[in-house]
Amino acid sequence: MAIPVAPRQLFIDGEWKQPVLKKRIPIVNPTTEEKIGDIPAATSEDVELAVAAARRALTRNKGSDWSTASGLVRARYLRAIADKIKDRKSELAKLEAMDCGKPLEEAAWDIDDVAGCFEYYADLAEGLDAKQKAPVSLPMDTFKSYVLHEPVGVVGLITPWNYPMLMATWKVAPALAAGCAAILKPSELASVTCLELADICMEVGLPPGVLNILTGLGPEAGAPLASHPHVDKIAFTGSSATGSKIMTAAAQLLKPVSLELGGKSPIIVFEDVDLDKAAEWTIFGCFWTNGQICSATSRLIVHESIAAEFLNRIVKWIENIKISDPLEEGCRLGPVVSRGQYEKILKFIETAKREGATILTGGSRPEHLKKGFFVQPTVITDVTTSMQIWREEVFGPVLAVKTFSNEEEAIELANDTHYGLGAAVISNDLGRCERVTKAFQAGIVWINCSQPCFTQAPWGGKKRSGFGRELGEWGLNNYLNVKQVTQYISDEPWGWYRKPSKL
Ligand code: NAI
Ligand code: MG
Repeated sequence: MAIPVAPRQLFIDGEWKQPVLKKRIPIVNPTTEEKIGDIPAATSEDVELAVAAARRALTRNKGSDWSTASGLVRARYLRAIADKIKDRKSELAKLEAMDCGKPLEEAAWDIDDVAGCFEYYADLAEGLDAKQKAPVSLPMDTFKSYVLHEPVGVVGLITPWNYPMLMATWKVAPALAAGCAAILKPSELASVTCLELADICMEVGLPPGVLNILTGLGPEAGAPLASHPHVDKIAFTGSSATGSKIMTAAAQLLKPVSLELGGKSPIIVFEDVDLDKAAEWTIFGCFWTNGQICSATSRLIVHESIAAEFLNRIVKWIENIKISDPLEEGCRLGPVVSRGQYEKILKFIETAKREGATILTGGSRPEHLKKGFFVQPTVITDVTTSMQIWREEVFGPVLAVKTFSNEEEAIELANDTHYGLGAAVISNDLGRCERVTKAFQAGIVWINCSQPCFTQAPWGGKKRSGFGRELGEWGLNNYLNVKQVTQYISDEPWGWYRKPSKL
């Protein structure tokens, strides 16, 4: 059953604040196409207020402010946030499912991961205290050197709609653990749970300004954040096109950015596999979250000797997937996030047909669903490497298939993309899997699976899929600067004038 969406404002300096221009953006439930509420739309004036609040949070009470508080203190807040998230899990999962269309069960996994991610970075915040002043060994005993890990400062976090609360958490949790003050700008297509996070921050008494949440449109709320002179860093997840705009804006001020962008990830299936197990991973890898995953393995590269039978199994599996309202039990595929995405995906399919590809299954909306932004899981064959469906990210439930005859050809097809986020290989020959793993041009490789993601392991891409790593200790390092400290410890005068040969 659907639940009401609480009316919320912007979260600035620890309080709800109306957007200066009082603008609001409707929330449309992608299952019913009905308006279920609205979110505030921030503009540059609100960004100014949030940046000022974040700066104050870093310097408010000199000596005991957020950035210089011990990791232990920050960890307590992160754990309190995790506890509240666990308490509200079922409500948050429902809101997520209603806002972005993902099946309730998957939304519930997301919320578990959100809580787990806050807890994980609470541990790392504590660990940071012990890492401070780590000595650097030097070749001269007249000096000693050590390293301080300091927060980057005020960070702008711009996130997408496919895992609304989780993508926000991948940035918010490490940023806060590091001692940064943050301004989060979630996607205008799915902001509801991020505003609930604001509510939770208030409940746990997070010091004002440490986290500010500005909902709103990309050009109106995201762009002023990216170009703001008092925002020290931008971390972004979303499309490559927007990533490029953000990097251009940040470049004017030499502001560091980390970018987690799109993908067109391959999955290679060799001839020695268990066909059913491989089919399940192939389907999960492409159709989970409706294919709206940056790392979706949306290009299947299958050995020619098993291709026909393998595709038969895939089609059979797909026929058994329940496509429905995400709140219905057993739902595996809900609607895509918005009308815009729905139309974009159908256009991709039309272009594939026009370019000469064959729709093996799917290709339109499911007949039994008259309303909602539903797209059938679609498998496309007779694909050439010059077709749009092979080259561009669909961000929907569409799998493009090519066959290969030998390992070298499979690797060449896999790397035939500007992107480099994920890549998967399925084979019983682990030696072969290792060779292929090394050859893949990607930041994440899955062997005999596709998509599993753990908070402890690094996540990010290469090529046009971006740079920088989230999660694990790499995620924390995104929000830390290293300061080298070198001290002269000899009683002797340095004597540069007297002993130039020493240099
Ligand atoms: P987007 O990349 O435009 O949006 C992501 C975030 O960036 C949102 O919060 C948005 O408001 C913000 N944004 C947009 N323009 C901005 C600007 N000029 N300056 C600062 N922030 C800005 O993605 P969108 O429009 O939601 O979806 C379009 C396509 O992007 C999708 O069809 C899909 O192909 C891709 N996409 C990829 C994602 C990924 O994780 N790789 C996630 C979301 C979308
Ligand atoms: Mg929505």
